[in-house]
Amino acid sequence: MSAILKLESITKTYTMGEMDFQALKGVSLEIFDGDMVALMGPSGSGKTTMMQVIGLLDRPTSGEYYLRGRDVTELTENERSEARNLEIGFVFQAFHLLSRQNLLENVEVPLTYAGWNSRDRRDRAMQMLEKVGLADKARNLPSQISGGQKQRVAVARALTMSPAILLADEPTGNLDSRTSEEIMALFQELNDEGSTVVIVTHEPDIGAHCKRIVRLRDGLLESDTIQANPRRALAYGTNAPNAVSAISI
Ligand SMILES: Nc1ncnc2c1ncn2[C@@H]1O[C@H](COP(=O)(O)OP(=O)(O)OP(=O)(O)O)[C@@H](O)[C@H]1O
Ligand SMILES: [Mg+2]
Repeated sequence: MSAILKLESITKTYTMGEMDFQALKGVSLEIFDGDMVALMGPSGSGKTTMMQVIGLLDRPTSGEYYLRGRDVTELTENERSEARNLEIGFVFQAFHLLSRQNLLENVEVPLTYAGWNSRDRRDRAMQMLEKVGLADKARNLPSQISGGQKQRVAVARALTMSPAILLADEPTGNLDSRTSEEIMALFQELNDEGSTVVIVTHEPDIGAHCKRIVRLRDGLLESDTIQANPRRALAYGTNAPNAVSAISI
């Protein structure tokens, strides 16, 4: 397996006025092609900080970061945005969909940044909505779909550019347990197809679905374990008619 990304002795210090706070204290980690990693650890241990570094949203204070073998530690702001749009797919707890744009338009956003023409954008975005089982709702607004469906749209948007890695920060934090299971089924399916996925979660149940569990504590890597048989998530079915019978059994 080749490393998609490699972090070497990454530190991150936040400065607030006179005060410094070291959120990451020297983390080294490799993530491989086809990995499905749960990033866990107590609140404040540095999970989101680490995702922001990995996702090129923030720069480390020291250390080195290689993405697909390329040193991305010292990129300029513009180079980082470009690399982010091409290489990273983000999924957030709060979905972050544009409320006035329909689902298709939401999924098109990264393609617009990348300069695709409108016809290719539409085709690609529709393909992605099909992948997450929401093609029939392409013209709905985010307010007209459920929470689980919103997260599926966010996943579709994250996948449009075929990113090297899909980063999800507590993607099931706003979802009930059945809907969380559906989202995990989607992540597992994407991982089966070759996507590399990193999921921040507090929930052992979510971690149980991942091939590898990395734990942070106080800004340091506490453990890194492989799970031989991650639990398969039950896909209740995206168009719900069977979903009710599936859970009432
Ligand atoms: N912008 C910031 N300025 C100052 N301190 C920060 C900033 N962002 C995070 N921190 C601090 O860094 C530490 C790590 O924060 P981080 O958000 O990475 O934690 P986390 O593991 O994601 O926690 P949670 O599980 O609660 O989301 C915390 O102590 C936090 O207060
Ligand atoms: Mg966090």
